[in-house]
Amino acid sequence: MASLSLRNIHKSFGKTAVLSGIDLDVADGEFTVIVGPSGCGKSTLLRTVAGLEEIDKGTIKIGEIDVSRLPPSERGIAMVFQSYALYPHMTVYANMSFGMKIAGASPEEIDQAVRAAAETLGLTALLERKPKELSGGQRQRTAIGRAIVRRPRIFLFDEPLSNLDASLRVKMRHEIARLHETLETTMIYVTHDQVEAMTLADRIVVLREGCIEQTGSPHELYKYPVNRFVAGFIGSPAMNFLSGFVVESRPDITTVRLESGAMIQVNGVAGALPPDTPVTLGIRPEHLTPGGDHNLIETQIKLVEPLGSHSYVYLDTPDAEDQLIFRASGDFSFAKGDRLTVCIAADQCHLFGKDGRELRQKPSGNLTTSQGDH
Ligand SMILES: Nc1ncnc2c1ncn2[C@@H]1O[C@H](COP(=O)(O)OP(=O)(O)O)[C@@H](O)[C@H]1O
Ligand SMILES: [Mg+2]
Repeated sequence: MASLSLRNIHKSFGKTAVLSGIDLDVADGEFTVIVGPSGCGKSTLLRTVAGLEEIDKGTIKIGEIDVSRLPPSERGIAMVFQSYALYPHMTVYANMSFGMKIAGASPEEIDQAVRAAAETLGLTALLERKPKELSGGQRQRTAIGRAIVRRPRIFLFDEPLSNLDASLRVKMRHEIARLHETLETTMIYVTHDQVEAMTLADRIVVLREGCIEQTGSPHELYKYPVNRFVAGFIGSPAMNFLSGFVVESRPDITTVRLESGAMIQVNGVAGALPPDTPVTLGIRPEHLTPGGDHNLIETQIKLVEPLGSHSYVYLDTPDAEDQLIFRASGDFSFAKGDRLTVCIAADQCHLFGKDGRELRQKPSGNLTTSQGDH
């Protein structure tokens, strides 16, 4: 077990800067999830921590030790990949024991570690099988088992469940949560799955174009995104964005006029905004309600997706930058083409300035943020 500290990490491939000054502290035993669009540098960041890529600049510390220039084998890290990366000609047992064997462990030591890990992961009956005789989930479990037997100080996971079907993903997600609870080891986990990020993480790191936009608990990021990028990235379906102009701004209420002329009141904005300031109003699908008597916008239903417990209703309106998504009850009875007036909850709005920064007042407290406006 160990903490991880990254300071000013830079990494380029040729002329392409992939990581541009990453500062990150992961506490001992913490489960940190890294999210961000494809190509933003998530895998590269994990690979630099593992020592599979050399950094151009910066410092990587594991515990108190500077490992920036150490080879992967001396960093005390185990990495689990999306592709499993198992040796196809070796049995599960041999795959899991390979690393220990190379490291010079005794056969007794190896046997004990492999059997314990197999027991934890439900692989005991499969130890003599080869990877091609395993299901996707069993392969991924073997890859995790191989990581466990090395007793790493830090686990790195790079989209480990992406190749599994939906129900297996849920099962493996629970297993990974349980594993973290049992092993109490520091884990850094890359995913593009919102549910994995929200449910597994003690802390989420949002990465964009090689820079950290924000770090915080899942709740902090969902509730208090520091900018429009994080607001749009965390949450599924994504937050709705509507553009408009400030009409009037008082300490507690700002009035925004949308494209259609609709007047929307937004609570809690830091400082007064001058009239005519261009702003983007953000509202999550669950914070729209049908009908009401103020903060209304007129829409037409484009599509209804009934999911049983609730429905997602896609609305056309000139006010939304894209479409507007509304989370309705499971028995929502309107249909495509119907007109619908929806109410925007004044105390649930976000307001972003031209540079993308959140203008709303945040409650003072422990929001860990990083400056990020692109
Ligand atoms: N070995 C490499 N050589 C050149 N470019 C690379 C290499 N690895 C990654 N890249 C580039 O670095 C960027 C970030 O890649 P990656 O870290 O894999 O992103 P992510 O995992 O977030 O999708 C991408 O533009 C990718 O093409
Ligand atoms: Mg990747």
